[in-house]
Amino acid sequence: MATALNSPDPSLPPRPRVLSGIQPTADSFQVGNYLGAIRRWVELQETHDAYYCVVDQHAITVEYQPPVLHERTLSSFAQLIAAGLDPQRSTVFVQSHVPQHSQLSWVLQCITGFGEAGRMTQFKDKSQREGTDRSTVGLFTYPVLQAADILIYQADGVPVGEDQRQHLELTRDLAQRFNSRFGRTFTVPEPLILADTAKILDLSEPTAKMSKSSPTGCLFLLDPPEVITKKIKTAVTDSGRDIAWDPVEKPGVSNLLSLIAAFTASTPTAVADDLAGGGYGGLKKAAIEAVLEFTVPFSARVHELLADRTYLLQLMAIGAERARAAAQPTLALTYERVGFVTLPN
Ligand code: TYM
Repeated sequence: MATALNSPDPSLPPRPRVLSGIQPTADSFQVGNYLGAIRRWVELQETHDAYYCVVDQHAITVEYQPPVLHERTLSSFAQLIAAGLDPQRSTVFVQSHVPQHSQLSWVLQCITGFGEAGRMTQFKDKSQREGTDRSTVGLFTYPVLQAADILIYQADGVPVGEDQRQHLELTRDLAQRFNSRFGRTFTVPEPLILADTAKILDLSEPTAKMSKSSPTGCLFLLDPPEVITKKIKTAVTDSGRDIAWDPVEKPGVSNLLSLIAAFTASTPTAVADDLAGGGYGGLKKAAIEAVLEFTVPFSARVHELLADRTYLLQLMAIGAERARAAAQPTLALTYERVGFVTLPN
């Protein structure tokens, strides 16, 4: 894996760079976002040169209300900080504050095949749901903007959940294509996907991934404790009474075991051993406790941060400035490679 060139302390060896992003498309992140991605982002800031963004430009590819997007962007940023991202150690920012992403995206669109973009499953799913007439060109080019988010920082790794794998494949293809056509310009990034929590499942339909589009089976991090308790109590379990880790035969039980394991730094099989004999009631009680232990202080911290908008905007401005400085050299090199004329300073 290639390493990025910068480090906060020049006397230290350069650290590999990671980038990831999250959409501000709900009032709250859900447990899948946290366990599949954000939790890892927090760990990576210890060892990596980390860039994390709230991708507000991606959020306007489907229908939205401007005042709602505005609030959700602020809340998403606050949630990232409350989850443990430290703006001193990571660069945490909002995508639209860094124009280099969309500038690079245009260049990458011009090397992306129409058929290639049309094969992206997220586009196919969403455009089928919305209907072709109501689907936007922005939704179609969404994965290319995502590739630009990653390549503009020369990221070595991209920590995401399993659902992002196809977009990362496209990103790698575009980087390799550009490099072979125009000369080495981009680092080809590796996906960093956590095996145990790559796909947290819906509580009421434990074969589908947990997602905000199915609110009853989705645990939102900002849900009040009584709502979380109710959702877990009504979660689908499987036939039989055994508590065993078996994602194929017992997807509902296994999903709850994964949740508990991830929130308590254990493994699903160790949790299953601990809870054996307690029945599904005991399993659900343990799941409720494990989730609330995280969400209660998390929610309090988010509300505290949201009450001080000036401070939040200051943090955003710091992140934006650092991100722009890191993005600009890649954009300049890309423009030079494709033959755009550079003006003297
Ligand atoms: P988004 O906003 O849908 O989700 C953010 C992160 O949460 C992960 N995730 C899950 N992981 C496990 N189980 C689940 N049920 C689950 N649900 C969501 C996602 O895999 C993701 O890592 N296209 C991206 C946003 C994006 C991006 C980027 C990501 C834009 N630019 C650049 C990485 C790099 C998205 O829609 O994520």
